Formats: sequence, structure tokens, C-alpha cells
Amino acid sequence: MKATWRNRYGGPAVLQVKELPKPTPKAGELLIRVHASTVNRTDCGVLTGLPYVFRLFTGPIKPRHASTGTDFAGVVESVGAAVTRYKPGERVLGFYDVGIGSHAEYVAVPESCPMVSLPEGIDFVVAAAAAEGAHYALNFINKVPLGSGKRVLVNGATGAIGSAAVQFLVHAGVEVTAVCPTAQVERVRALGPALVVDYQKSDFTQLPGGYDFVFDAVGKSTFGRCRRLLVPKGIYLSSELGPGWQNPFLALLGFVAPGKRVVFPLPVNIQGSLEQIRAHLLDGSFKPMLDRTYPLDQAAEAFRYVLTGQKIGNVVLVCS
Ligand SMILES: NC(=O)c1ccc[n+]([C@@H]2O[C@H](COP(=O)([O-])OP(=O)(O)OC[C@H]3O[C@@H](n4cnc5c(N)ncnc54)[C@H](OP(=O)(O)O)[C@@H]3O)[C@@H](O)[C@H]2O)c1
Repeated sequence: MKATWRNRYGGPAVLQVKELPKPTPKAGELLIRVHASTVNRTDCGVLTGLPYVFRLFTGPIKPRHASTGTDFAGVVESVGAAVTRYKPGERVLGFYDVGIGSHAEYVAVPESCPMVSLPEGIDFVVAAAAAEGAHYALNFINKVPLGSGKRVLVNGATGAIGSAAVQFLVHAGVEVTAVCPTAQVERVRALGPALVVDYQKSDFTQLPGGYDFVFDAVGKSTFGRCRRLLVPKGIYLSSELGPGWQNPFLALLGFVAPGKRVVFPLPVNIQGSLEQIRAHLLDGSFKPMLDRTYPLDQAAEAFRYVLTGQKIGNVVLVCS
């Protein structure tokens, strides 16, 4: 089978696509024929091993998986003798945030890998694009008390995380302000926010304020700059650690200092996210934003594009 392959951490130049033996599933594993898999910002961490702390999970010296890939939309090809929940022929969507080697025509995953069955009618490319960013978006949303009447500002509304967050928030009846670049204003407006701010024309931190929550889904702002936007007990969340890695520390400070504070959205419960994502895909309340698709052979090119930090939503590899 064809798969991406590297033997060290590095940029896209270390990545090849080559013929590897098709995996044989062990007793507790499923063999998945991968139809589509994204190249996402988490994959960039798996490829480069950066930030270094990520290597605690992906392999300290060398990458644990020779192939890149964190998610898959595909069909169960065969199952090991101990597998009980899935059967051959079933369509599935899975995601594991420290890498599973799914940039391949086939991947073997344990039955415990976060995964949901995928109903007929949901395209594999769309399904793959629905997992990573949406999981992190749900892990912003489930960290704060949301509801109708709340006001949220989402910075980075064209990212995989931001574009999913805007849709989930709008669906929950929240009043959303979405911040994005000039070229994508109309595309973001179609997601349903109350206000779209073009960050290339105006500084969103100078808006009148009154926000219950600021979600920086692209990690380009700081709590200091966004503080004035928040209501007295408002909360700031960011997908990044912050320029001085301050966000986790500010989040700890928030436990003792009353008033405006930072919450660090540690992403947990991928299985729960996938179940919610499937429900949103089925009722039409979530349509993942799609940018480019690449054939598996061009995986390194896809990584080069994603590493620019300028993708619009999701980039998908068509694997088989
Ligand atoms: N905490 C976690 O567990 C975790 C997990 C995954 C990703 N992340 C981080 O979360 C961030 C977002 O990931 P993603 O996949 O959603 O992003 P992404 O898809 O790579 O895209 C970022 C988008 O934001 C836009 N953008 C860039 N600078 C901006 C600015 N100053 N203001 C508003 N929009 C801006 C970009 O377009 P233009 O450049 O054209 O403006 C691009 O469309 C990344 O920094 C990533 O490293 C964190």
C-alpha cells in the first residue's frame, strides 16, 4: 500500500510517499481502508515534533509512527478476533490527536481509538474535514457556560477550529462576532455570525466590547489586548499557549483572582466530540469549511501549504 513515511522529525522535505506492507490487524484492531484524511495543524506537530513538549506523546527522539496522519474517514476492511463493536464494510470516522499513521491507503487502529460509524450520505472528504478542528472548537465551547443571549467573539474564523466554532455557537443561539481576512468575509458571513470583522481593515480589539467570551481560535491575540472587550466576569480562551507561554499560567491565576480571566481549553474526550460532530453533520448544523484537496502522493505539498498558517478551514488528502 501507499503511505507517507519519514524516519525523523522535520519539515515537509523529510516526508516521502512510498510502498509499505499493508498492515495486518491484531486481535483488538481494525484495518481501515482510508478514503480521506486531513493535513491539519496537529499533523504539523506530528511531522515536525514541535513544540518539543509534543514529543512526549509522539516519540521523544524519533517519531513513533513512520507515517503521518491523525484522522481517517473510510471503510472497515477487516477486524481482529477480539473486536466487537465494528464489522467489515462499516463506514467510520476516527481521530487521535497524537497521530495514528492514517496518511495511508490502509491503517490498523485499536478498537479503543476514538471513532464513530458514519452514516451513508456523508461524503468521506467532508467527514474527514469535520474531525480535528471541530474537536478543538467543541473543547472551547464546553469549557464555558454558553447559551442564548451570550455574546462571543471568535478570532480566526477561517481556521479549522474557528470556522467550526462559529457554526456550533450560531446553532446554540449565541450572538457571534467573527474575525477573518478580507478575502473570506462573505464566506464567513454565510456561517451566520451577527457581525463579521475584517482584521486586515480594522483592529477587533477596538470594538465596543460587552463580550461574555473571546475565543482566539488562531492564537494571534493576548488576554491583555482582549481584556477590554470582556464583560466584568468575561473569559478569554486561546488555541495557543501565547507569545510568552503565558496562557496556562494566567488560567491558573484565574482560580484565585476574581473578574475577567483566562481559561486554557485543554482538549479532552475525542470520542464525545466525534459523537457530537456526527449529530451536527446529520442535522446539517455543521458543514466543515473546505480548502484544497490533494492526492496522497502530494502529502508533502499539502503540509507545505498548511504550514503557511493560511489555509481556509480544512485541507484533505484523498488516500484511496
Ligand atoms: N491547543 C491545541 O490543542 C491546538 C490544536 C490544533 C491547533 N492549534 C492551533 O490553533 C491555531 C488554529 O488552527 P487552525 O487549524 O484552526 O488554523 P488554520 O486552519 O491554520 O488557519 C488559520 C486561519 O486564520 C487566519 N488568520 C491568520 N492570522 C489571523 C489573524 N491575525 N486574525 C484572524 N485570522 C487570522 C488565516 O488566514 P489569513 O492568513 O489569510 O488571514 C487562516 O485562514 C493554530 O495556531 C494551531 O497551531 C492548537
